[in-house]
Amino acid sequence: MSRLVVISNRVAVPKARGAAGAQGGLAGALNAALKKNGGTWFGWSGQEIDEFTGNINMQRHDGVTTATIDLEQQDVDEYYNGYANSTLWPLFHYRIDLTEYEREFGRGYERVNQRFADSVAPLIEPSDMVWVHDYHLIPLGERLRAHGLKNRIGFFLHIPWPPTRLFVSLPYHERLVRTMLAYDLLGFQTTEWLESFLHYCRKELGAQVDEQTGTIDFEGRTVIARAYPIGIDFDHLSAEAATEEAKQAEQRILVSTRDRTAMLGVDRLDYTKGLPERIDGIGRFFDQYPDRVRDLVYIQIAPPSREDVESYQNIRALLEQKTGQINGARSEVDLVPIRYVNKGHSLAELCGFYRGCKIGLVTPLRDGMNLVAKEYVAAQDPADPGVLILSRFAGAAQQLEDAVLVNPHSPDDLSHAIKSALDMPLAERKARWGKLIVSVMDENVQAWTENFCRDLASQ
Ligand code: F6P
Repeated sequence: MSRLVVISNRVAVPKARGAAGAQGGLAGALNAALKKNGGTWFGWSGQEIDEFTGNINMQRHDGVTTATIDLEQQDVDEYYNGYANSTLWPLFHYRIDLTEYEREFGRGYERVNQRFADSVAPLIEPSDMVWVHDYHLIPLGERLRAHGLKNRIGFFLHIPWPPTRLFVSLPYHERLVRTMLAYDLLGFQTTEWLESFLHYCRKELGAQVDEQTGTIDFEGRTVIARAYPIGIDFDHLSAEAATEEAKQAEQRILVSTRDRTAMLGVDRLDYTKGLPERIDGIGRFFDQYPDRVRDLVYIQIAPPSREDVESYQNIRALLEQKTGQINGARSEVDLVPIRYVNKGHSLAELCGFYRGCKIGLVTPLRDGMNLVAKEYVAAQDPADPGVLILSRFAGAAQQLEDAVLVNPHSPDDLSHAIKSALDMPLAERKARWGKLIVSVMDENVQAWTENFCRDLASQ
């Protein structure tokens, strides 16, 4: 099998890894993929430097070679905080109201993609398979082709692809999509995002699209686009869940919540995760069932994310305000309804928390996949599993249909779901979980990698 070269914005140094939920799913998933196939993982070090040098820092951990470059502060401002996280991220999550269209952001994005291409191209052998990831690096394939690379190059988008009528609000939208046709294989999380992309290609580019096979013919090139739903590293998670650290974490939940049911949310502090809307739903539940404040404690773990971007600062302030309001109104001297934890935890600890909490609340307004939902299912006790409440707008809902599916915008819907999860009999919890776990075990990260790499190799 060819060696794999993975390229993504961030590269996770294995020892520094947290849970998929805490850091975003991409890093954990790719680490698993590379360990299996061997290969090199190239990306930004996360460090800033006065002047870009292109120097590559190579390291080896557990059979995975990481190769990273530092970027200038202007690069980070314009490419990472700017075009990636203030333009593409909100737009691709249907938040056109938060999308910023600044010319310098676009220039910074192009510059950094060029820097990535110039730095990584010399590391790529003719027989390597190259796999580029996510919205930070959409034009990278085209830049690599300009270096003369004839390799198989695939691209996977970890976030949604928006409907055409939203996407066309992006200046130079056509240019961005044309660059994607330099890849051999394009992967999306779900058929919904895939269909939106194919619709754009047909309607705006005038490409020949075969919806059945995902084949796009345009100006003499043929590209395949398919859905590959990402999964978790089930075996790794199971091993972490069996550790002493996980057991102690579960005890911390059980001891501190005693006879109340613990309900858990684990999310990067991001406006796409629907956190203020979730707190409104919990507030509605307490309004409708005031006595049940003695039955339920909500634990929200929300490590800060992308703190230099204004919309992230705003969402944090709003969440803190809403949490404070409910706690102020509903607390007793011996009871606080919402625990809000602003830091990340290890995967082992999270496994213990997942298991100790009988309700998992995963309610993004829009999410490419959402691996927290899958982690929650994987960590449950089969004899007494918890209930997963899941947004119907998370990509994961297409696979986890036996969760309690909700509309995260509706406080009434959330309140109703919390009530039914709290009161759900053991037999129904077991029946639902029994179906969910099959999907989580089978459609795991290894299957995701194998499916994508097999299709890329055969292009
Ligand atoms: O999954 C989407 C994603 O942007 C990943 O690319 C990234 O690793 C994760 O979310 C966390 O975001 P960031 O790298 O900006 O902290």
